[in-house]
Amino acid sequence: MVAWKNLDTLESYKALQDTKGNVNLTEAMAGQNGADRVKKYAIPMAEGLSYHYAAKKVDDDILEKLASLAKEAQLSEKFQELYNGAVINLTENRRVLHQLTRGQLGGKVMADGVDKREFYKKEQEKIAAFAKKVHAGEITNEKGEKFHTVVQIGIGGSDLGPRAIYLALENWAIANDTLKMQARFISNVDPDDPVGVLGGVDLAHALFIVVSKSGTTLETLTNEAFVKNALADAGLDASKHMLAVTSETSPMAHNSGYLAAFFMDDYIGGRYSTSSAVGNAILALAFGPDIFARFLEGMAAEDKLAAEEDPLKNPEMLDALISVYERNILGYPVTALLPYSQALSRFPAHLQQASMESNGKSVNRFGEPMNYSTGEVLFGEPGTNGQHSFYQLLHQGTDIVPLQFIGFRKSQNEKDVAVEGSTSQMKLCANVAAQMIAFACGKDDENPAKRFSGDRPSSIIIGEQLTPESCGALLAHYENKFMFQGFLWNVNSFDQEGVQLGKVLAKRVLAHDTDGALKAFAELLGI
Ligand code: F6P
Repeated sequence: MVAWKNLDTLESYKALQDTKGNVNLTEAMAGQNGADRVKKYAIPMAEGLSYHYAAKKVDDDILEKLASLAKEAQLSEKFQELYNGAVINLTENRRVLHQLTRGQLGGKVMADGVDKREFYKKEQEKIAAFAKKVHAGEITNEKGEKFHTVVQIGIGGSDLGPRAIYLALENWAIANDTLKMQARFISNVDPDDPVGVLGGVDLAHALFIVVSKSGTTLETLTNEAFVKNALADAGLDASKHMLAVTSETSPMAHNSGYLAAFFMDDYIGGRYSTSSAVGNAILALAFGPDIFARFLEGMAAEDKLAAEEDPLKNPEMLDALISVYERNILGYPVTALLPYSQALSRFPAHLQQASMESNGKSVNRFGEPMNYSTGEVLFGEPGTNGQHSFYQLLHQGTDIVPLQFIGFRKSQNEKDVAVEGSTSQMKLCANVAAQMIAFACGKDDENPAKRFSGDRPSSIIIGEQLTPESCGALLAHYENKFMFQGFLWNVNSFDQEGVQLGKVLAKRVLAHDTDGALKAFAELLGI
């Protein structure tokens, strides 16, 4: 029987309180001791990735206590409940089924009278068949010409994940000769967004996918209207250029204004929807359905590891345990995600939503207040660009920011240049290794301005190359990590009530139903 308890009621959490300050990284990571830790504190992940936590403020004793915490918090049992279809999302009375889009970890999950795994697979098959017809020129524009661009219109989870993964694999696809269509994205209700994107798109040869689970998001509906106007102005029939991805119960479903419609459902949160039709449609059109299938295989392989009970064999669970240790025992509220991979340029933005919309909660899953902090403020940029931007604060600022690096031994294509005896890829990898040691070990100096205190924790996920499979595994790692964090904090990681108030007030502004400061600010902004 699973018991959902607040973190601070767990005995193993209390036992961790005494360990604060037990590990000083400037000592732990120095000399042979440091090299031994690097060897010892690592876990294999799926698809050739591995998670390395030698430069985190943990030792064998802390890891043992974290393992006890995992057990007492019943992290594995909770995950089992989730993937077997229990109603984990209490406030919305919903199951949480995104893992089913890429595999079946547990028993059959029946909902709404259907086997949900079969439902998701059927949508994948429908999308694959559609994409193949587009690529083969069997589905064309009104003049019988092939489409060569696909534009996604959506926001939040209906934009960030698919966009991040498209960018992650675009250059890999070019290098491997499998880029079938160029993809573009329109998300912001700022008219400059559609204007900018449409300015670079040949409308006559473009397909537009309107993506909204609810089918009611004002930004997306407004951008859809914007694009429809542009198509009409160009003398094109919008219904021959537009697809819908939505849930079957939304106002966008079963609408003759779309060339085709593909479905996900309410059991998949927007921020967890990249592996559903939300990401599938654009990624299969851009790269081909086989590449999307390989991406899902990577996700499924990592999900399997997430089901492992022992946290020392479960990278997602361990990452979550260490992050909660950093948040609640060491008191660090911010985490930086630093991929040393240009292809992952929008990955931090996607994970920002996945983490912060999931775990930024002040009440527990039963609506009761909690006496401890939850959620992490997540931000990040690819290295080495970040080094020349905000790393100053990370190295010498008054706050300690735990760091999550990602690095690959190989770039996505063969082209490179040797300057001063090293290639670009070698420089990239040298930098990430150097940063980890600089943060952990620091450097003393007579001049206080040049002193680095060190003892700043980081971890790294290392892979051979960013491919569809490793990219899938990487995304599944973080989705599962945020889920385990939520289990530990005892929050509902699958609702997002915190986004509602602003939407309601914006509607009031647009209806001129305001007074006081809201009216005053609205007037200042010209409404
Ligand atoms: O406002 C937040 C949110 O509900 C996100 O959770 C979601 O990803 C986004 O809006 C878009 O929602 P939809 O897919 O229903 O348009």
